Amino acid sequence: MASRKFFVGGNWKMNGNKESLGELISTLNTASLHDQTEVVCGAPSIYLGFARSSLDPRIGVAAQNCYKVAKGAFTGEISPAMIKDCGVDWVILGHSERRHVFGESDELIGQKVAHALESDLGVIACIGEKLEEREAGTTEEVVYAQTQVIAENVKDWSKVVLAYEPVWAIGTGKTATPEQAQEVHEKLRAWLRANVSGDVADSLRIIYGGSVTAANCKELAAQGDVDGFLVGGASLKPEFVDIINARA
Ligand code: PGA
Repeated sequence: MASRKFFVGGNWKMNGNKESLGELISTLNTASLHDQTEVVCGAPSIYLGFARSSLDPRIGVAAQNCYKVAKGAFTGEISPAMIKDCGVDWVILGHSERRHVFGESDELIGQKVAHALESDLGVIACIGEKLEEREAGTTEEVVYAQTQVIAENVKDWSKVVLAYEPVWAIGTGKTATPEQAQEVHEKLRAWLRANVSGDVADSLRIIYGGSVTAANCKELAAQGDVDGFLVGGASLKPEFVDIINARA
């Protein structure tokens, strides 16, 4: 089985200012971070240049969204070309807040994934079921359908990380249990084996997101198919360092 480098993404969402993010950045820059873990911080678009120039180069930066074309009359949007131009190498796409607060469809997310990859950005592609879907027993159906649309838009999987984030666990303090996370990750890997390829199933990092904290990260990180995390609230706190070091 291909070895998968542990990946921890922070998603700052629409939080912080130069002062508070600057403090967080100094904490990260001076912390001892496990060198076998890839770390990427998702900054608000207006702070991408600031984050990139202040963060140590060993820490990557991600935009939290982008549009599906390189340029044009799309007021308020940013393109992968602009993200690259700020020295930033990653973008988070399909986050549940984009899907459910801003109404982004699977189709639009797929188009964004395709264009971001063509523009040489790495993509953290997010999927996950809502509470009513889990309760109705349709978790698998939902995450497979979301992954299918992403898969149709990916040619080079080496630049993709798949983030499984159950919507009911995001920002709620209700983390999926290690068994619940492992079960879905394992099924997603089997889906990839059947529908994409064995190589992609073995090498794609599938990370978990939803109320990950320093207190629960180690147990989650010990699951065979959990290859890292996407962290919201706790990525704004010094405990993010402990999450980065969950496998250390
Ligand atoms: P949370 O957010 O860690 O605050 O639950 C996770 C995410 O939205 O990526």
